[in-house]
Amino acid sequence: MNQQDPLRLAGVRLLAPISVIVPTYNEAENIPELAQRLQALRNDHDVDLELLIMDDDSPDDTRGVVSRLDLDWVRLVVRTSDRGLSQAVVEGLNAARHPVLVVMDADLSHPPEKIPDMILALESGQQFVIGSRYVAGGRTDGEWGFMRWLNSRIATLLARPFSSARDPMSGFFALRRSDFIRADRLNPLGYKIGLELIVKCGLENVGEVPIYFADRKRGKSKLDFRQQLLYLMHLRRLLIYQYSALSQVFQFALVGASGAVVNLVVLTLLSRLGAPVRLAILGGIAVSIVTNFALNRRLTFSYARDQSVLPQFMGFVLASSLGAAVNFAVADGLLRFRPDMSVHLAAMAGIASGMFLNFVANRYAVFRKKRS
Ligand code: GDD
Ligand code: MN
Repeated sequence: MNQQDPLRLAGVRLLAPISVIVPTYNEAENIPELAQRLQALRNDHDVDLELLIMDDDSPDDTRGVVSRLDLDWVRLVVRTSDRGLSQAVVEGLNAARHPVLVVMDADLSHPPEKIPDMILALESGQQFVIGSRYVAGGRTDGEWGFMRWLNSRIATLLARPFSSARDPMSGFFALRRSDFIRADRLNPLGYKIGLELIVKCGLENVGEVPIYFADRKRGKSKLDFRQQLLYLMHLRRLLIYQYSALSQVFQFALVGASGAVVNLVVLTLLSRLGAPVRLAILGGIAVSIVTNFALNRRLTFSYARDQSVLPQFMGFVLASSLGAAVNFAVADGLLRFRPDMSVHLAAMAGIASGMFLNFVANRYAVFRKKRS
């Protein structure tokens, strides 16, 4: 039988062999039910399925539980270095033997019974199939509080520049091994390995199969505040990867906006403390130059942050002054040339030109990439 071509046999569609990768940390209580439900899938669909449990050396006797299962299609990999959910998943994807790869959680929030639908979607031409909470027919457990819901929605919205999928944050997904091996420099960080794969494997056709996301019955969730910060760092990395030049302009503008806020706050504080107006204005400018410099060095031009600070700072101040001069010259020139023009329009043209010059000077002179 050719296993690449799905055949119909007594009404049951044959599925290509599957590797199911499950990252675990302290999930011993959930593993037996997970294995039993996957076993049912193996029997019902007569499919060759291996389970890879990628465990970060859990102290809860995961080893004992897995060995007592005594199933030859279940492999436990105990990891002691480079721990973390995404790292465990990537190692599992690399160790998998079968042409179809499925990643899911151990806590049974992801129903294994949906795997056949996901694989049929792969076979009908999708490259990446998500077990999705947010498509018609999908649902999360009623126990979800408002804050958890809001949190999940905001995180999903932030992923929009990288994927138009409704639930790109899901940890339940399927893809072909042939697509996975095309992955470019995987840099897993935190929880969102699915998003990382969509971007780094360049997967265009992303499909979603609705699931009912059940709350875990046993054990504890490991998603904490630290993971949410890591998610923001992960998004920034993906932004740089996908939109490198544009992402710098965007970060530069964001830093500029933060500088305006800093400037006004310092100005207000100084005048409250009784400083004369002009001194307060100068203080606001000085402090915001320093914070803008620090943030641009740390974020926008982070590739240059191991070069020496002082020359960079002087260059930054020079570029800012040059930007201000260009800003003034453009606004002034426009008003001279067309005296009937709105002052605000002229000022905006000045600001845009000043910022453009400022950015170019910083990007290509002050924080230039050193060849190594
Ligand atoms: N190896 C390893 N190392 N596994 C881990 C680690 C780790 O550091 N941290 C968590 N896991 C495993 C858990 O044991 C579980 O099997 C799975 O990763 C998901 O962890 P949970 O703690 O259950 O996560 P969750 O329910 O809060 O998050 C779920 O929803 C997210 C979307 O809202 C997961 O499905 C995530 O994958 C998903 O992104
Ligand atoms: Mn969970």
